[in-house]
Amino acid sequence: MAVKIVETSLRDGHQSLFATRMTTDEIVSMAKILDDAGYYALEVWGGATFDSCMRFLNEDPWERLRKIKAVCKKTKLQMLFRGQNILGYRHYSDDVVDMFCKKSIENGIDVIRVFDALNDIRNLRQAVKSTKKYGGECQIALSYTTSPVHTIDYYVNFAKEVESLGADSLCVKDMAGVLLPEDATKLFSALKKNTNLALELHGHCTGGICEMTYMAAIKAGCDRIDTSLSPLSGGTGQPSTQAFNSALKGTEFAPNLNEDVLHECEPIMDKVVSKYLASGTLNPKALTANPNILTYQVPGGMLSNLMSQLKGQNAMDRYDEVLREVPRVRKEMGYPPLVTPLSQMVGTQAVLNVLMGRYKIVAKEIKDYLHGKYGKAPAEIDQTIAKPIVGDDEIITCRPADLLEPEFESLKEKYADIAKSDEDVLSLALFENVATDFLKKKYAPKEENQTEEFNVIF
Ligand code: CO
Repeated sequence: MAVKIVETSLRDGHQSLFATRMTTDEIVSMAKILDDAGYYALEVWGGATFDSCMRFLNEDPWERLRKIKAVCKKTKLQMLFRGQNILGYRHYSDDVVDMFCKKSIENGIDVIRVFDALNDIRNLRQAVKSTKKYGGECQIALSYTTSPVHTIDYYVNFAKEVESLGADSLCVKDMAGVLLPEDATKLFSALKKNTNLALELHGHCTGGICEMTYMAAIKAGCDRIDTSLSPLSGGTGQPSTQAFNSALKGTEFAPNLNEDVLHECEPIMDKVVSKYLASGTLNPKALTANPNILTYQVPGGMLSNLMSQLKGQNAMDRYDEVLREVPRVRKEMGYPPLVTPLSQMVGTQAVLNVLMGRYKIVAKEIKDYLHGKYGKAPAEIDQTIAKPIVGDDEIITCRPADLLEPEFESLKEKYADIAKSDEDVLSLALFENVATDFLKKKYAPKEENQTEEFNVIF
Protein backbone atom coordinates (compact mmCIF):
# COMPACT_ATOMS: atom_id res chain seq x y z
CA MET A 1 0.00 0.00 0.00
CA ALA A 2 1.20 3.52 -0.78
CA VAL A 3 2.91 5.15 2.17
CA LYS A 4 1.46 8.52 3.10
CA ILE A 5 3.69 11.43 3.93
CA VAL A 6 3.32 14.11 6.58
CA GLU A 7 5.50 17.10 5.71
CA THR A 8 7.18 18.49 8.82
CA SER A 9 9.49 21.21 7.50
CA LEU A 10 7.07 23.97 8.49
CA ARG A 11 7.01 22.88 12.17
CA ASP A 12 9.50 20.28 13.39
CA GLY A 13 11.98 21.01 10.57
CA HIS A 14 12.74 24.55 11.66
CA GLN A 15 12.17 23.71 15.35
CA SER A 16 14.87 21.02 15.20
CA LEU A 17 17.32 22.87 12.99
CA PHE A 18 17.03 26.58 13.72
CA ALA A 19 15.16 27.13 16.95
CA THR A 20 11.67 27.55 15.43
CA ARG A 21 12.45 30.89 13.82
CA MET A 22 10.70 30.55 10.44
CA THR A 23 8.35 33.49 9.97
CA THR A 24 4.67 33.35 9.07
CA ASP A 25 5.35 34.87 5.62
CA GLU A 26 7.99 32.24 4.89
CA ILE A 27 5.69 29.44 6.06
CA VAL A 28 2.66 30.70 4.14
CA SER A 29 4.64 31.14 0.90
CA MET A 30 5.67 27.47 1.03
CA ALA A 31 2.41 26.03 2.41
CA LYS A 32 0.59 27.55 -0.57
CA ILE A 33 2.76 25.56 -2.98
CA LEU A 34 2.94 22.36 -0.93
CA ASP A 35 -0.84 22.17 -0.75
CA ASP A 36 -0.69 20.69 -4.28
CA ALA A 37 1.98 18.06 -3.59
CA GLY A 38 -0.29 15.24 -2.40
CA TYR A 39 0.73 14.99 1.25
CA TYR A 40 -1.42 13.33 3.90
CA ALA A 41 -0.94 16.44 6.04
CA LEU A 42 1.31 19.44 6.60
CA GLU A 43 2.53 19.78 10.17
CA VAL A 44 2.50 23.53 10.69
CA TRP A 45 1.60 24.41 14.26
CA GLY A 46 2.07 23.55 17.92
CA GLY A 47 5.24 22.32 19.58
CA ALA A 48 7.53 25.27 20.20
CA THR A 49 6.09 27.38 17.35
CA PHE A 50 3.46 29.01 19.54
CA ASP A 51 5.86 30.45 22.11
CA SER A 52 8.53 31.28 19.56
CA CYS A 53 6.05 33.15 17.35
CA MET A 54 5.23 35.66 20.08
CA ARG A 55 8.59 35.69 21.91
CA PHE A 56 11.02 36.10 19.03
CA LEU A 57 9.01 37.05 15.96
CA ASN A 58 6.35 39.33 17.44
CA GLU A 59 3.71 37.40 15.51
CA ASP A 60 0.35 36.06 16.60
CA PRO A 61 0.29 32.23 16.44
CA TRP A 62 -3.49 32.20 15.86
CA GLU A 63 -3.15 34.62 12.96
CA ARG A 64 -0.39 32.43 11.54
CA LEU A 65 -2.71 29.44 11.60
CA ARG A 66 -5.55 31.34 9.89
CA LYS A 67 -3.17 32.58 7.18
CA ILE A 68 -1.92 29.05 6.50
CA LYS A 69 -5.48 27.72 6.37
CA ALA A 70 -6.43 30.41 3.87
CA VAL A 71 -3.89 29.04 1.34
CA CYS A 72 -4.22 25.31 2.07
CA LYS A 73 -7.44 24.14 0.49
CA LYS A 74 -6.61 20.49 -0.15
CA THR A 75 -4.20 19.27 2.49
CA LYS A 76 -4.93 18.64 6.16
CA LEU A 77 -3.13 20.82 8.67
CA GLN A 78 -1.58 19.08 11.64
CA MET A 79 -0.33 20.25 15.03
CA LEU A 80 1.54 18.74 17.97
CA PHE A 81 0.58 19.11 21.58
CA ARG A 82 1.49 17.67 24.94
CA GLY A 83 -1.66 16.23 26.51
CA GLN A 84 -2.73 17.95 29.67
CA ASN A 85 0.21 20.42 29.40
CA ILE A 86 -1.13 21.63 26.01
CA LEU A 87 1.90 23.67 24.85
CA GLY A 88 2.96 24.89 28.27
CA TYR A 89 4.77 23.40 31.21
CA ARG A 90 2.08 22.73 33.82
CA HIS A 91 -1.08 20.69 33.90
CA TYR A 92 -4.15 22.61 32.77
CA SER A 93 -7.72 21.88 33.79
CA ASP A 94 -9.91 19.90 31.40
CA ASP A 95 -11.94 22.94 30.33
CA VAL A 96 -8.77 24.73 29.16
CA VAL A 97 -7.66 21.66 27.20
CA ASP A 98 -11.14 21.50 25.70
CA MET A 99 -11.13 25.18 24.73
CA PHE A 100 -7.67 24.83 23.20
CA CYS A 101 -8.78 21.92 21.00
CA LYS A 102 -11.94 23.81 20.02
CA LYS A 103 -10.07 26.98 19.02
CA SER A 104 -7.30 25.08 17.21
CA ILE A 105 -9.87 23.29 15.06
CA GLU A 106 -11.94 26.44 14.52
CA ASN A 107 -8.87 28.33 13.34
CA GLY A 108 -7.82 25.65 10.85
CA ILE A 109 -6.26 22.54 12.41
CA ASP A 110 -7.49 19.17 11.07
CA VAL A 111 -5.24 16.68 12.85
CA ILE A 112 -4.15 17.01 16.47
CA ARG A 113 -1.19 14.84 17.47
CA VAL A 114 -1.08 14.51 21.20
CA PHE A 115 1.52 12.89 23.43
CA ASP A 116 2.47 12.61 27.07
CA ALA A 117 6.08 12.52 28.18
CA LEU A 118 5.37 9.58 30.53
CA ASN A 119 2.97 7.78 28.18
CA ASP A 120 0.44 8.12 30.99
CA ILE A 121 -2.77 7.49 29.09
CA ARG A 122 -4.79 9.42 31.70
CA ASN A 123 -3.03 12.62 30.60
CA LEU A 124 -4.26 12.09 27.01
CA ARG A 125 -7.91 11.29 27.61
CA GLN A 126 -9.32 14.84 27.61
CA ALA A 127 -7.42 15.89 24.48
CA VAL A 128 -8.77 12.91 22.52
CA LYS A 129 -12.30 13.52 23.75
CA SER A 130 -12.25 17.22 22.87
CA THR A 131 -10.58 16.76 19.48
CA LYS A 132 -13.25 14.27 18.45
CA LYS A 133 -16.02 16.45 19.91
CA TYR A 134 -15.08 19.37 17.63
CA GLY A 135 -14.70 17.21 14.53
CA GLY A 136 -10.90 16.91 14.50
CA GLU A 137 -8.82 13.86 13.75
CA CYS A 138 -6.88 12.70 16.78
CA GLN A 139 -3.56 10.94 16.74
CA ILE A 140 -1.82 9.75 19.87
CA ALA A 141 1.95 9.61 19.79
CA LEU A 142 3.83 7.24 22.04
CA SER A 143 7.08 8.63 23.33
CA TYR A 144 9.57 5.98 22.25
CA THR A 145 12.45 5.13 24.52
CA THR A 146 14.53 2.12 25.53
CA SER A 147 14.62 0.65 29.04
CA PRO A 148 13.97 -2.69 30.74
CA VAL A 149 10.25 -1.79 31.03
CA HIS A 150 9.81 -0.41 27.52
CA THR A 151 9.28 -3.78 25.85
CA ILE A 152 7.22 -4.65 22.77
CA ASP A 153 4.46 -5.80 25.15
CA TYR A 154 4.52 -2.42 26.89
CA TYR A 155 4.03 -0.62 23.57
CA VAL A 156 1.35 -3.05 22.36
CA ASN A 157 -0.60 -2.53 25.60
CA PHE A 158 -0.29 1.21 25.16
CA ALA A 159 -1.57 0.92 21.58
CA LYS A 160 -4.58 -1.09 22.73
CA GLU A 161 -5.44 1.61 25.25
CA VAL A 162 -5.05 4.25 22.53
CA GLU A 163 -7.50 2.30 20.39
CA SER A 164 -10.06 1.97 23.18
CA LEU A 165 -9.77 5.70 23.85
CA GLY A 166 -11.13 6.35 20.35
CA ALA A 167 -8.03 7.92 18.77
CA ASP A 168 -7.81 7.67 14.97
CA SER A 169 -4.16 6.71 14.65
CA LEU A 170 -0.96 6.00 16.54
CA CYS A 171 2.41 7.58 15.96
CA VAL A 172 5.69 6.16 17.23
CA LYS A 173 7.49 9.32 18.25
CA ASP A 174 11.22 8.67 18.30
CA MET A 175 12.28 12.15 19.37
CA ALA A 176 15.86 11.09 20.09
CA GLY A 177 16.34 9.12 16.87
CA VAL A 178 17.37 5.95 18.73
CA LEU A 179 14.95 3.41 17.22
CA LEU A 180 17.09 0.79 15.44
CA PRO A 181 15.87 -0.77 12.16
CA GLU A 182 15.59 -4.26 13.63
CA ASP A 183 13.61 -2.97 16.61
CA ALA A 184 11.35 -1.01 14.25
CA THR A 185 10.59 -4.23 12.37
CA LYS A 186 9.57 -5.96 15.60
CA LEU A 187 7.64 -2.98 16.96
CA PHE A 188 5.62 -2.21 13.83
CA SER A 189 4.89 -5.88 13.13
CA ALA A 190 3.53 -6.26 16.67
CA LEU A 191 1.50 -3.03 16.52
CA LYS A 192 0.04 -3.99 13.14
CA LYS A 193 -0.90 -7.43 14.41
CA ASN A 194 -2.53 -6.22 17.62
CA THR A 195 -4.45 -3.08 16.64
CA ASN A 196 -6.45 -1.66 13.75
CA LEU A 197 -5.00 1.82 14.16
CA ALA A 198 -3.26 3.56 11.27
CA LEU A 199 0.43 3.67 12.19
CA GLU A 200 2.90 6.49 11.67
CA LEU A 201 6.59 6.94 12.42
CA HIS A 202 8.18 10.20 13.51
CA GLY A 203 11.96 10.04 13.80
CA HIS A 204 15.00 12.29 13.81
CA CYS A 205 18.23 11.79 11.86
CA THR A 206 20.35 12.79 14.86
CA GLY A 207 21.89 9.35 15.31
CA GLY A 208 22.38 8.73 11.59
CA ILE A 209 20.10 5.69 11.36
CA CYS A 210 16.67 7.19 10.73
CA GLU A 211 16.30 6.43 7.01
CA MET A 212 17.15 2.76 7.60
CA THR A 213 14.64 2.63 10.44
CA TYR A 214 11.91 4.23 8.30
CA MET A 215 12.47 1.63 5.57
CA ALA A 216 12.26 -1.22 8.08
CA ALA A 217 9.08 0.24 9.59
CA ILE A 218 7.43 0.69 6.19
CA LYS A 219 8.10 -2.94 5.30
CA ALA A 220 6.63 -3.98 8.66
CA GLY A 221 3.34 -2.14 8.15
CA CYS A 222 3.93 1.54 8.95
CA ASP A 223 1.28 3.52 7.00
CA ARG A 224 2.66 7.06 7.27
CA ILE A 225 6.05 8.67 7.73
CA ASP A 226 7.12 12.16 8.78
CA THR A 227 9.65 13.75 6.44
CA SER A 228 11.00 17.23 5.82
CA LEU A 229 11.58 18.90 2.52
CA SER A 230 15.27 18.98 1.74
CA PRO A 231 17.25 21.23 2.45
CA LEU A 232 15.48 21.32 5.81
CA SER A 233 16.06 17.63 6.46
CA GLY A 234 18.72 15.44 8.04
CA GLY A 235 20.86 16.16 11.08
CA THR A 236 18.65 16.91 14.06
CA GLY A 237 15.62 17.08 11.74
CA GLN A 238 13.59 14.46 9.81
CA PRO A 239 14.67 12.48 6.72
CA SER A 240 14.22 14.10 3.32
CA THR A 241 10.82 14.08 1.65
CA GLN A 242 12.29 14.04 -1.84
CA ALA A 243 14.62 11.16 -0.95
CA PHE A 244 11.76 8.99 0.30
CA ASN A 245 9.55 9.89 -2.62
CA SER A 246 12.35 8.69 -4.93
CA ALA A 247 13.54 5.71 -2.90
CA LEU A 248 10.08 4.15 -2.80
CA LYS A 249 9.34 4.75 -6.49
CA GLY A 250 8.29 1.64 -8.38
CA THR A 251 7.40 -0.20 -5.17
CA GLU A 252 4.00 -0.88 -3.65
CA PHE A 253 4.86 1.80 -1.07
CA ALA A 254 5.42 4.69 -3.53
CA PRO A 255 4.06 7.89 -1.97
CA ASN A 256 3.59 9.49 -5.42
CA LEU A 257 4.11 13.09 -4.37
CA ASN A 258 4.10 15.58 -7.22
CA GLU A 259 7.79 16.24 -7.91
CA ASP A 260 7.16 19.42 -9.89
CA VAL A 261 5.52 20.91 -6.84
CA LEU A 262 8.41 19.88 -4.61
CA HIS A 263 10.89 21.43 -7.08
CA GLU A 264 8.92 24.64 -7.08
CA CYS A 265 9.34 24.91 -3.34
CA GLU A 266 13.05 24.09 -3.23
CA PRO A 267 14.47 27.54 -4.16
CA ILE A 268 12.29 29.20 -1.50
CA MET A 269 13.35 26.67 1.11
CA ASP A 270 16.99 27.10 0.03
CA LYS A 271 16.77 30.85 0.48
CA VAL A 272 15.23 30.49 3.94
CA VAL A 273 17.87 28.00 5.05
CA SER A 274 20.71 30.20 3.70
CA LYS A 275 19.32 33.14 5.64
CA TYR A 276 19.40 31.28 8.95
CA LEU A 277 22.82 29.78 8.21
CA ALA A 278 24.18 33.25 7.54
CA SER A 279 22.66 34.67 10.74
CA GLY A 280 24.11 31.80 12.79
CA THR A 281 20.65 30.64 13.95
CA LEU A 282 21.26 27.43 12.04
CA ASN A 283 24.46 25.86 13.32
CA PRO A 284 26.03 23.69 10.58
CA LYS A 285 26.70 21.11 13.32
CA ALA A 286 22.93 20.50 13.54
CA LEU A 287 23.05 19.22 9.96
CA THR A 288 25.33 16.26 10.64
CA ALA A 289 24.68 13.04 12.54
CA ASN A 290 25.84 12.58 16.12
CA PRO A 291 26.21 8.87 16.90
CA ASN A 292 26.77 9.72 20.59
CA ILE A 293 23.03 9.82 21.04
CA LEU A 294 22.91 6.08 20.33
CA THR A 295 25.33 5.48 23.16
CA TYR A 296 23.69 7.77 25.71
CA GLN A 297 20.09 7.56 24.40
CA VAL A 298 19.87 11.30 24.84
CA PRO A 299 18.00 13.52 22.32
CA GLY A 300 20.11 15.97 20.33
CA GLY A 301 18.42 19.05 21.83
CA MET A 302 19.27 17.77 25.29
CA LEU A 303 22.95 17.36 24.41
CA SER A 304 23.19 20.99 23.36
CA ASN A 305 21.31 22.10 26.52
CA LEU A 306 23.72 20.16 28.72
CA MET A 307 26.65 21.74 26.94
CA SER A 308 25.32 25.26 27.40
CA GLN A 309 24.52 24.66 31.10
CA LEU A 310 28.05 23.39 31.67
CA LYS A 311 29.61 26.24 29.70
CA GLY A 312 27.61 28.67 31.86
CA GLN A 313 29.14 27.05 34.94
CA ASN A 314 32.61 26.96 33.40
CA ALA A 315 32.53 23.20 33.80
CA MET A 316 32.79 21.78 30.29
CA ASP A 317 35.47 19.38 31.61
CA ARG A 318 32.66 17.53 33.46
CA TYR A 319 30.68 16.85 30.25
CA ASP A 320 31.46 13.12 30.07
CA GLU A 321 30.59 12.68 33.74
CA VAL A 322 27.24 14.38 33.15
CA LEU A 323 26.55 12.15 30.13
CA ARG A 324 27.12 9.09 32.31
CA GLU A 325 24.96 10.57 35.08
CA VAL A 326 21.92 11.05 32.79
CA PRO A 327 21.03 7.32 32.47
CA ARG A 328 21.59 6.87 36.21
CA VAL A 329 19.13 9.66 37.11
CA ARG A 330 16.71 8.34 34.52
CA LYS A 331 16.79 4.86 36.07
CA GLU A 332 16.24 6.28 39.57
CA MET A 333 13.27 8.27 38.27
CA GLY A 334 11.61 5.12 36.84
CA TYR A 335 12.84 5.40 33.24
CA PRO A 336 10.86 8.40 31.94
CA PRO A 337 11.27 8.91 28.16
CA LEU A 338 13.60 11.85 27.58
CA VAL A 339 11.19 14.24 25.90
CA THR A 340 9.96 17.70 26.99
CA PRO A 341 9.68 18.41 29.89
CA LEU A 342 11.37 15.29 31.30
CA SER A 343 14.49 15.70 29.13
CA GLN A 344 15.15 19.15 30.62
CA MET A 345 14.34 17.93 34.15
CA VAL A 346 16.56 14.84 34.05
CA GLY A 347 19.34 16.80 32.31
CA THR A 348 19.34 19.61 34.86
CA GLN A 349 19.33 17.13 37.76
CA ALA A 350 22.26 15.25 36.20
CA VAL A 351 24.22 18.52 35.98
CA LEU A 352 23.35 19.39 39.60
CA ASN A 353 24.34 15.91 40.77
CA VAL A 354 27.75 16.10 39.11
CA LEU A 355 28.57 19.67 40.13
CA MET A 356 27.07 19.76 43.65
CA GLY A 357 26.94 16.12 44.75
CA ARG A 358 24.19 13.60 44.13
CA TYR A 359 20.74 15.06 45.03
CA LYS A 360 22.32 17.65 47.34
CA ILE A 361 20.23 20.14 45.40
CA VAL A 362 16.99 18.93 43.84
CA ALA A 363 15.27 20.92 41.09
CA LYS A 364 11.69 21.95 41.91
CA GLU A 365 10.33 20.08 38.87
CA ILE A 366 11.99 16.85 40.01
CA LYS A 367 10.39 17.31 43.44
CA ASP A 368 6.99 17.74 41.76
CA TYR A 369 7.65 14.66 39.63
CA LEU A 370 8.45 12.61 42.74
CA HIS A 371 5.19 13.84 44.25
CA GLY A 372 3.30 12.38 41.28
CA LYS A 373 2.39 15.75 39.79
CA TYR A 374 3.32 14.75 36.23
CA GLY A 375 1.57 11.37 36.29
CA LYS A 376 2.75 7.81 36.70
CA ALA A 377 6.40 6.91 36.11
CA PRO A 378 6.86 4.01 33.65
CA ALA A 379 8.76 1.93 36.27
CA GLU A 380 9.22 2.01 40.05
CA ILE A 381 10.99 5.10 41.33
CA ASP A 382 14.08 4.35 43.43
CA GLN A 383 12.85 4.98 46.97
CA THR A 384 16.34 5.42 48.43
CA ILE A 385 16.50 8.59 46.32
CA ALA A 386 12.85 9.63 46.57
CA LYS A 387 12.23 9.10 50.29
CA PRO A 388 14.65 11.75 51.63
CA ILE A 389 13.22 14.27 49.12
CA VAL A 390 9.52 13.51 49.54
CA GLY A 391 9.51 12.67 53.27
CA ASP A 392 5.99 12.17 54.59
CA ASP A 393 4.30 14.33 51.95
CA GLU A 394 1.26 12.93 50.23
CA ILE A 395 1.93 11.44 46.78
CA ILE A 396 -0.62 11.98 44.02
CA THR A 397 -1.74 8.69 42.49
CA CYS A 398 -4.84 9.93 40.64
CA ARG A 399 -4.72 11.73 37.28
CA PRO A 400 -3.06 15.06 38.21
CA ALA A 401 -5.69 17.14 36.37
CA ASP A 402 -8.45 15.59 38.52
CA LEU A 403 -7.25 17.88 41.27
CA LEU A 404 -7.79 21.01 39.16
CA GLU A 405 -11.00 23.04 39.18
CA PRO A 406 -12.25 24.42 35.85
CA GLU A 407 -10.20 27.55 35.21
CA PHE A 408 -11.03 29.02 31.81
CA GLU A 409 -13.63 31.51 33.08
CA SER A 410 -11.37 32.76 35.85
CA LEU A 411 -8.48 33.11 33.39
CA LYS A 412 -10.78 35.13 31.15
CA GLU A 413 -11.57 37.45 34.03
CA LYS A 414 -7.94 37.69 35.07
CA TYR A 415 -6.85 38.78 31.60
CA ALA A 416 -9.94 40.88 30.79
CA ASP A 417 -7.92 44.07 30.26
CA ILE A 418 -5.42 42.53 27.77
CA ALA A 419 -7.31 39.75 25.98
CA LYS A 420 -9.70 40.59 23.15
CA SER A 421 -10.65 37.01 22.28
CA ASP A 422 -10.71 33.51 23.74
CA GLU A 423 -7.61 32.83 21.62
CA ASP A 424 -5.80 35.64 23.46
CA VAL A 425 -6.88 34.14 26.81
CA LEU A 426 -5.36 30.81 25.75
CA SER A 427 -2.10 32.49 24.66
CA LEU A 428 -1.93 34.18 28.08
CA ALA A 429 -2.81 30.98 29.95
CA LEU A 430 0.05 29.15 28.23
CA PHE A 431 2.79 31.80 28.22
CA GLU A 432 1.70 34.58 30.55
CA ASN A 433 4.72 36.90 30.40
CA VAL A 434 5.49 36.45 26.72
CA ALA A 435 1.84 36.81 25.68
CA THR A 436 1.31 39.86 27.90
CA ASP A 437 4.23 41.69 26.27
CA PHE A 438 3.14 40.58 22.83
CA LEU A 439 -0.54 41.50 23.18
CA LYS A 440 0.25 44.89 24.75
CA LYS A 441 2.30 45.74 21.67
CA LYS A 442 -0.30 44.28 19.34
CA TYR A 443 -3.15 46.31 20.81
CA ALA A 444 -1.20 49.49 21.51
CA PRO A 445 -2.89 52.66 20.20
CA LYS A 446 -1.87 53.51 16.64
CA GLU A 447 0.16 56.66 17.42
CA GLU A 448 2.37 54.63 19.72
CA ASN A 449 2.98 52.10 16.96
CA GLN A 450 3.99 54.82 14.54
CA THR A 451 6.45 56.30 17.02
CA GLU A 452 7.99 52.88 17.47
CA GLU A 453 8.44 52.43 13.74
CA PHE A 454 9.87 55.92 13.48
CA ASN A 455 12.43 55.05 16.15
CA VAL A 456 13.41 51.89 14.38
CA ILE A 457 14.02 53.63 11.05
CA PHE A 458 16.18 56.42 12.43
CO1 CO B 1 10.24 15.68 16.45
